[in-house]
Amino acid sequence: MFSVKREDFGKDFVFGAATAAYQIEGGQLDGRGPSIWDSFSRTPGNTHNFESGVQACDHYNLWPQDLDLIQDAGFDAYRFSLSWPRLIPEGTGTVNQKGLDYYDRLIDGMLERNIKPFATLYHWDLPSPLQDKGGWMNRDIASWFADYAALVQQKYGDRIETTATINEPWCVSFLSHFLGAHAPGYKDIRATARAMHHVLFAHGKAVEAIRAEGGDNLGIVLNFEWDMPATDSADDKKAAHIADGIFNRWFLDGVFKGQYPDDMLEAFGDNMPKGFDADMKTVSTPLDWLGVNYYTRRVVEYDANLPVFPVKPVEGGLETTEMGWEIFPKGLENILTRISDDYTKIPMYVTENGMAEVEGMDDPRRVKYYNDHLQAVLDAKSKGANMQGYFAWSLLDNYEWAEGYNKRFGLVHVDYETQKRTPKASYRAFQGLLHNT
Ligand code: FCB
Repeated sequence: MFSVKREDFGKDFVFGAATAAYQIEGGQLDGRGPSIWDSFSRTPGNTHNFESGVQACDHYNLWPQDLDLIQDAGFDAYRFSLSWPRLIPEGTGTVNQKGLDYYDRLIDGMLERNIKPFATLYHWDLPSPLQDKGGWMNRDIASWFADYAALVQQKYGDRIETTATINEPWCVSFLSHFLGAHAPGYKDIRATARAMHHVLFAHGKAVEAIRAEGGDNLGIVLNFEWDMPATDSADDKKAAHIADGIFNRWFLDGVFKGQYPDDMLEAFGDNMPKGFDADMKTVSTPLDWLGVNYYTRRVVEYDANLPVFPVKPVEGGLETTEMGWEIFPKGLENILTRISDDYTKIPMYVTENGMAEVEGMDDPRRVKYYNDHLQAVLDAKSKGANMQGYFAWSLLDNYEWAEGYNKRFGLVHVDYETQKRTPKASYRAFQGLLHNT
């Protein structure tokens, strides 16, 4: 059971659960095109046990029971993503009717159950033919993405509650082009600098395209980490500032101030695309809301041996989740109040928050994790942050990217052999919160 109460959050506060297409749908048929996660996961060494999202949770077929689970928990909303390669198999051009029909069924299914559709356009499954043209390194991705965004608006805009352009631009760019941990798996600073700009430029172009089609209630989902120095030394503080620059400031400054931080631009140097300045007005197109994903803090020290970004993560000593991520609810409060004080007063939703836990239906640590982070949202709200909603990650145990099926984030357990769903204690805790009003 949670100690927080629904009424503490205010009447219109939205509670939901979140997922992403590649992590749950499976259903790689009916004309769906290939994505970068298909090839990345089929390349040895990239994912746990060589696992891919080919089957995942078979949400493509089992979505009615998954929507029933959302409804039975008492959630107001479902944050889901659309698969670009399912809708436009080549990334541009011909549209796949069966893909369109699938999201028609899914969105109508939400509305029939009184669940508000919170759509995300891009949660990492880039159509492979676009990667062949350079993917996020190619400036043209802004127009490819804007065309896809316009299509979604034309087909579903009348039924969607909110649209987010990109999920976690840091992961799309830095994690996937510098650290090489996610598709397409590059480790290249020039690729990174380009992706870090193009991902936000594409976001801005998509917002413009959706508005041109009459769409509204548009946002972006950024992920944040609370970066802390390992010691009080000036060097470690500098390392924390740099970590904050890569992870948080780049995206916040770009989207809300229309300029990238000077120290980060200096680090990227002439790897930045020429003339990027001219795009900053589009990057910072005013938004209707901001999505905040938060999981953990990071403690760092200065390491002069690391070129460009002399930042070394170290053990912080707090209790960790199965991902090895430290549990630090205060970081969520800090992030939300910082955004509210320094960047924007537009409505904010926590669009992802949750933890990986060992397999099992009884998950008291997860119940506490949620309760403490919900309390952090209340604390931020009481300090003036414009909090409008909270989404648990995730509805189901699912394909956790490079970690394969080895890490379980679900409120609902999934037996991948039988596809049987079983609610966990954390699901019941939300049910208790949401039905007791
Ligand atoms: C976030 C992703 C989401 C999931 C969680 C654990 O970075 O947006 O798809 O993998 O982490």
